[in-house]
Amino acid sequence: MSKAKVKKTIVGDIDAEVLRFTAGEDTALDEVLVEVDCIGTAAHVSALASDKLPSPILTPKERDRVIGELVAIMKRARDGKFKIGLKDQDVHLAVERALTRAVGDVGRKVHAGRSRNDQVAVDLRLHGKTLLLDTMEAASALARILVSFAKRHETLPMVGRTHMQPAMPSSVGLWASAHAESLLDDLVLLKGAYDVTNVSPLGSAAGYGVPLELDRASVARLLGFKRSHANVLYASSARGKCEAAILAAMSQVMLTLSRLAEDLIIYTMPEFGYFTLPPAYCTGSSIMPQKRNPDVLELIRARAPRVLACETAVVSVVQGLPAGYSRDLQETKEPFMTGTGITLACLRVLAPLVRGLKPRKAALLAGFGPEVFATDKALDMVGEGVPFRTAYDRVKSSLDELQALDSQEIVKRRMRSGTARIDFDNLAGRVQDCLRLVRAERRRFHGAISRLLGKKYPELK
Ligand code: ARG
Repeated sequence: MSKAKVKKTIVGDIDAEVLRFTAGEDTALDEVLVEVDCIGTAAHVSALASDKLPSPILTPKERDRVIGELVAIMKRARDGKFKIGLKDQDVHLAVERALTRAVGDVGRKVHAGRSRNDQVAVDLRLHGKTLLLDTMEAASALARILVSFAKRHETLPMVGRTHMQPAMPSSVGLWASAHAESLLDDLVLLKGAYDVTNVSPLGSAAGYGVPLELDRASVARLLGFKRSHANVLYASSARGKCEAAILAAMSQVMLTLSRLAEDLIIYTMPEFGYFTLPPAYCTGSSIMPQKRNPDVLELIRARAPRVLACETAVVSVVQGLPAGYSRDLQETKEPFMTGTGITLACLRVLAPLVRGLKPRKAALLAGFGPEVFATDKALDMVGEGVPFRTAYDRVKSSLDELQALDSQEIVKRRMRSGTARIDFDNLAGRVQDCLRLVRAERRRFHGAISRLLGKKYPELK
């Protein structure tokens, strides 16, 4: 390789083109990870200064100095003043270089007992935990809005459909709370992904541990993790698998959102007119002055398959990899960040849209033709002792004689007795449980990081 093209880096001289190729998108994507990388490093230097080590690698004073500088780097990053250069390759070496420039030789000690492999793994888990808590909060908020909308319109008639054809009397409450319960299932999966993510890989180094008595359990505690990995090789191999688990849960959220979006696109068409969308959440046309389009809902519908594609991209990179670190894993970062970002944005835009949704009673009632009451009629006969199949045949052979009934009366009865009653206590209770969990976990995390940095986190004051 010609000398002019070689770049000096912390980890040796690298051909400029190779450097560009291998760094890939890291110099840009890693900007999001500066803060968590500093936090991970703060925990690591605490372990290096532990008096339980036979000969501590850092003195308490050196540790405090490093942590102080890490906080300064975090603040600079928040002001947009921390840049990751190509020579740094990624956030890890950028932080180490900045640290060494600020604190001198002490900065050259901090990488003892760790590798970029466990550094990036811990960064992505810390970042993933925050993303999951934000997503769980946003999903709970949307579920709560749907439940209260459902409660308000519990008995407002809305034709129940199968195959999109009129089927049975139903209500706006039943429709809205169905989407809420779907989100609550997604929250179970998000919580599962959170449990998988809430484990510290630090101390695994390159995947095979180090011959130093670094207390992995206490490092995990310092960072607010539930525990550390039981096996250091798995701690390394779990990269990508953890991201895929998070994206799988997010993909389920998007599945729910896309179906809610599709329902709203259909039911706000003038031909149905069951609901009107808040005007500020519609967009116009550049040529047709009358247009009020549901672009937001259409984009949510289109972004659901994009999140699924991100999940597939991560799984595709990881499946078939040998145990331990391979550079392939770097390629999971972009789809992970893209997919999680899309999901959170969709939840956040949909919540106020649903809050501003207005049902149109006249249109909802107009949907009730006589055929909607056919099954109820057969079941009335069953109540009088007629075998169901006989009642079914009788109604079927005289469909023309069916009469439209008072849908408001029928729906009121249906929602108060029989099996279609909505268990609002269950739905509201589960929303509450999720929100409580998010708050408790956030408090736990912020408390741990505040103690670690000696500054109130996330304020850094
Ligand atoms: N930027 C790298 C990644 O995301 C960090 C780990 C590099 N490790 C290595 N052995 N080359 O994977």
